[in-house]
Amino acid sequence: MQTDQHSQSDTPQRIGTPLSAQATRVMLLGAGELGKEVIIALQRLGVEVIAVDRYANAPGHQVAHRAHVIDMTDASALRALVEKERPHLIVPEIEAIATDALAEIESAGLATVIPTARATQLTMNREGIRRLAAEELGLPTSPYAFAQSLDEMKAAIAKIGFPCVVKPVMSSSGKGQSVLKTDADIEPAWNYAMQGGRVNHGRVIVEGFIDFEYEITQLTVRAADPASGQTQTYFCEPIGHVQVAGDYVESWQPQAMPPAALEKARDVAAKVTTALGGRGLFGVELFVRGDDVWFSEVSPRPHDTGLVTLATQRFSEFELHARAILGLPVDTTLSTPGASAVIYGGLDEKGIAFEGVAEALAVPGADLRLFGKPESFAKRRMGVALATGADVPEARERAKLAASKVRPVSANGV
Ligand SMILES: Nc1ncnc2c1ncn2[C@@H]1O[C@H](COP(=O)(O)OP(=O)(O)OP(=O)(O)O)[C@@H](O)[C@H]1O
Ligand SMILES: [Mg+2]
Repeated sequence: MQTDQHSQSDTPQRIGTPLSAQATRVMLLGAGELGKEVIIALQRLGVEVIAVDRYANAPGHQVAHRAHVIDMTDASALRALVEKERPHLIVPEIEAIATDALAEIESAGLATVIPTARATQLTMNREGIRRLAAEELGLPTSPYAFAQSLDEMKAAIAKIGFPCVVKPVMSSSGKGQSVLKTDADIEPAWNYAMQGGRVNHGRVIVEGFIDFEYEITQLTVRAADPASGQTQTYFCEPIGHVQVAGDYVESWQPQAMPPAALEKARDVAAKVTTALGGRGLFGVELFVRGDDVWFSEVSPRPHDTGLVTLATQRFSEFELHARAILGLPVDTTLSTPGASAVIYGGLDEKGIAFEGVAEALAVPGADLRLFGKPESFAKRRMGVALATGADVPEARERAKLAASKVRPVSANGV
């Protein structure tokens, strides 16, 4: 009966007692800093949470009822763990998962995959989501072509022109990605893409470079409307952000936009999230210039730039995701302008320490998340500073100031 109770029906969901036979069980696949916040939100609603990651003591492992370490790209290991834990909901937090196993689990009725197994399959590969957005839904995107070899890539670039961007079809956080300006950039970009792809499929996308004014994340929630019980689309205020080498360093909310651009952004976001289906929160990445909007990509889960919502919204993107997947109502109200600034590890070491935390928290309107990652790398995101302000410029200054106060230091031999 419990699977019925958790099917995406239009009736309000029951929530059982954690660690009892009636528990509502949710399994997070990926337990990084974003998963950790989703887990905390679920715990607050009385859900039993199982956190899975590929390494021990991941951030989300530290706040879950149970923690497991498996290779999530291993279909049989994933299936075995789901059969052992029998979660009602499976919540992917990362892209690198055996998504075919998720599709089998979903069609066998073993668990509900958030938002849907098909959405996880389409978005883990740039080709799947790009063809859906541009070719099926007719959404505006950069011009693009796919290539499987250096020669095919040269032919694609001849069609698309310079400047262009080359990305492995399976990669995230800017890995293996290059901006190309001349012929001399082609071979290094191909070699870099072949090293940087998640699974070496030898396939890349070539995209025309969009000279955008700014880029946004349009957080979009598919959740139950309390009046009708039907799934409806809700929008958060747009989030502006700055990316360096494909990784986000700063975000803020709200990003001011002309009304026509905002309307287009939401139209694109509604179309792509409706096509992906299911319930949950999505991060729709869009490029904007004047009144023009281009779809870039979409995460069928909370977005890293949305960490800012921990400071700005009545309910953070993580709380919204938790509510939406449980069939509960959402409220996307913005409470205050705010900003986030990433804190990098700065050094390669296990078990580092952070100094300057008190100084960071003494910045007016500031808050902090230290993720508790067991190992630091120079370019690994280890924490984030959050800040509110009277307006976005003030909040950005405060978040950057607070982040700059936190100093990761070596803790070994001390
Ligand atoms: N066609 C493009 N034109 C201009 N800039 C681009 C283009 N594609 C990507 N970028 C820039 O590179 C950033 C990263 O690209 P994209 O989101 O595709 O990569 P990613 O590896 O999936 O990154 P992440 O996982 O952090 O979202 C974008 O946010 C944007 O700043
Ligand atoms: Mg992106």
